[in-house]
Amino acid sequence: MDFTSPSIGFIFILAFIISIPSSLSVPFIVLHGIGDQCSNRGVKQFTEELRNFSATEGYCIEVGDGTWDSWFLPLEEQTRIVCDKVKEMEELRQGYNIVGLSQGNLIGRGVVEFCIDGPPVKNFISLGGPHAGTASVPLCGSGIFCIIANKLLKSEIYSDYVQAHLAPSGYLKLPNAMADYLEKCKFLPMLNNERPDGKNSTLKERFSSLENLVLIMFEHDTVLIPKETSWFGYYQDDTFKSILSPRQTNLYKEDWIGLRALDEAGRVKYISVPGGHLGISTSDMKKHVVPYLNSSASTEIGKKEGNDPRMSGVQHGMPLLDEKASTELVLEGSSSYRWPLPVKTLFSELLGLTEDESLP
Ligand SMILES: *[C@@H]1O[C@H](CO)[C@@H](O)[C@H](O)[C@H]1NC(C)=O
Ligand SMILES: *[C@@H]1O[C@H](CO)[C@@H](O)[C@H](O)[C@H]1NC(C)=O
Ligand SMILES: *[C@@H]1O[C@H](CO)[C@@H](O)[C@H](O)[C@H]1NC(C)=O
Repeated sequence: MDFTSPSIGFIFILAFIISIPSSLSVPFIVLHGIGDQCSNRGVKQFTEELRNFSATEGYCIEVGDGTWDSWFLPLEEQTRIVCDKVKEMEELRQGYNIVGLSQGNLIGRGVVEFCIDGPPVKNFISLGGPHAGTASVPLCGSGIFCIIANKLLKSEIYSDYVQAHLAPSGYLKLPNAMADYLEKCKFLPMLNNERPDGKNSTLKERFSSLENLVLIMFEHDTVLIPKETSWFGYYQDDTFKSILSPRQTNLYKEDWIGLRALDEAGRVKYISVPGGHLGISTSDMKKHVVPYLNSSASTEIGKKEGNDPRMSGVQHGMPLLDEKASTELVLEGSSSYRWPLPVKTLFSELLGLTEDESLP
């Protein structure tokens, strides 16, 4: 390059910049929740609608065989699989966005934090993600057997056997068993940099390089306990009563993973939508998800939304009329409270339940 004629260089750069908008279309991937798979109607429709609304390319990334592996493959393993896949996809080379559904969010975050040499992740849109853990068995809700299961599980859930065979055990965080959780839970303590003696600054660096982090919480979520985990809020240690808002947690205050850094840079959007777990309406998809999949818009958005007054203490706004138009997505991990038989069997064996005490 001839530095004595800057105007040529300038024109070059200018031409390059001008050419960006047409060529820079950032694709997205969808990571589904537990008990679901890419070939199921709900996820397929969800992915297709996002593609249609955003006019960008999007791919649902499968882990193993889908449903079964989503339950029984440890999340470390699921993360590794997705990491390998995104590295192989030519389409994602220049960077991509992640749309996570429920458990899929933890895999997505695993990819952001652990997938060395993977393509860069730009926007991360999380729908109902158990980011700070969940204090209940997923899809169990608050039924009597879930309570029994929770009680009994306390002694088993962090055993090596369960940790190696049941994906959700990697983010079950029982506030009254924090010492066990921190020591023996294999996935979330690492993902959230929670272990007192093992803070890894690389994870923080990687996570805080996101352009936008959109955290969508469902106001009537009964699958995630507490629902505030979608925003990184959680129970105070040793209680099931007081819930810390995201900014009150140590993860935030001491900035273990860069959430605070992102938030202070205005890049975290705390969104609350009506509906049960993953029950997002078309209009809310268009309002809160689609804009972040649209590369041309991605730097402009976020200025108008984000600092939700409900960050500390909750008050509900009136839903707009058109928000009631629900897509009625059937995302398997969401509305169905039935457990796959092998899951029931595994739990029943673990808990020593008899036939007629079977789980819902
Ligand atoms: C997406 O757009 C295509 C082409 O216009 C249409 O055939 C399809 O039904 C749309 N899919 C969804 C889920 O809206
Ligand atoms: C920290 O995390 C990075 C990314 O996953 C990993 O490569 C590195 O080995 C970790 N460092 C330590 C000390 O565990
Ligand atoms: C997203 O991009 C498409 C295609 O470039 C455009 O038609 C649409 O208006 C954009 N939407 C937003 C919300 O920016």
